[in-house]
Amino acid sequence: MNETHFLKVENLTKLFGGLAAVNDVSFSVDKGSIKAIIGPNGAGKTTLFDLLIGVQQPNSGSIWFEGKNIVGYKAHQIADLGMSRTFQTIQLFGNMTVLENVMVGRHARTTSEFTQVGLRLPKFLREERKIKEEALKNLELVGLGLQADKLADTLSFGQQRLLELARALATSPKLILLDEPAAGLNTYEIEELRNLIYKIRDMGITVLLVEHNMGLVMRVSDEVLVLDYGQVIAEGSPEQVRDDPKVIEAYLGVEVNDFGGEG
Ligand SMILES: Nc1ncnc2c1ncn2[C@@H]1O[C@H](COP(=O)(O)OP(=O)(O)OP(=O)(O)O)[C@@H](O)[C@H]1O
Ligand SMILES: [Mg+2]
Repeated sequence: MNETHFLKVENLTKLFGGLAAVNDVSFSVDKGSIKAIIGPNGAGKTTLFDLLIGVQQPNSGSIWFEGKNIVGYKAHQIADLGMSRTFQTIQLFGNMTVLENVMVGRHARTTSEFTQVGLRLPKFLREERKIKEEALKNLELVGLGLQADKLADTLSFGQQRLLELARALATSPKLILLDEPAAGLNTYEIEELRNLIYKIRDMGITVLLVEHNMGLVMRVSDEVLVLDYGQVIAEGSPEQVRDDPKVIEAYLGVEVNDFGGEG
């Protein structure tokens, strides 16, 4: 048991053939905080998310989530414990409505058995109505309330990212993992995203954020973890990390978007 931390990752390693995509990574996340994970392309950020959420299994190490080591848990079990994520590449059902896309996310967590769904028993119908109400609330939260009946395909790119966020929120997570939510957004949309991240945090949801947009990372995060070639090279406040020579070296030759800027 390790009850002192909300999320604590210990010596986590994931090998792909000879490559250690995640290499002996340890860190923790405080409940109610916003933590960013940064690092050059291929540093292992998305792989780390895949390990946390249970779609990939580590070769070694532990992941303590609210005192439970969740290594070996299936993705749906981890979702039930209260972890959800958005994808680096948008993954929506384009020919379903915006509302339906959010409801699909929620169905991952309904308690009705499959047979009840098939028979349309009252419990299922009650849940269905609740799911719809919750989905609409989440759409309103991200500013897509008026788009609920549109096909997901017809949304702008920025709106599709918001829809992914609404869907991740639909599972009522305690911890949400956002994989490059600002990618492809314009300056105005990134500002809106920042406010939305604060709103999510203020709802009591802990936020873990993978992001290349340093302007956003520097302003929104309580703490930053830096990965390079699968390993942790720095961890601390945004300012500490920004001024760390190892971080500066890792980013040498990389075009960094607004690193440390006020924006
Ligand atoms: N399923 C896989 N099979 C083999 N190698 C993989 C797999 N997934 C990722 N990798 C490799 O693991 C390393 C880490 O990839 P990962 O996608 O986690 O990086 P990242 O930090 O998310 O990068 P980016 O910023 O470009 O999204 C890369 O070298 C990548 O090629
Ligand atoms: Mg990635």
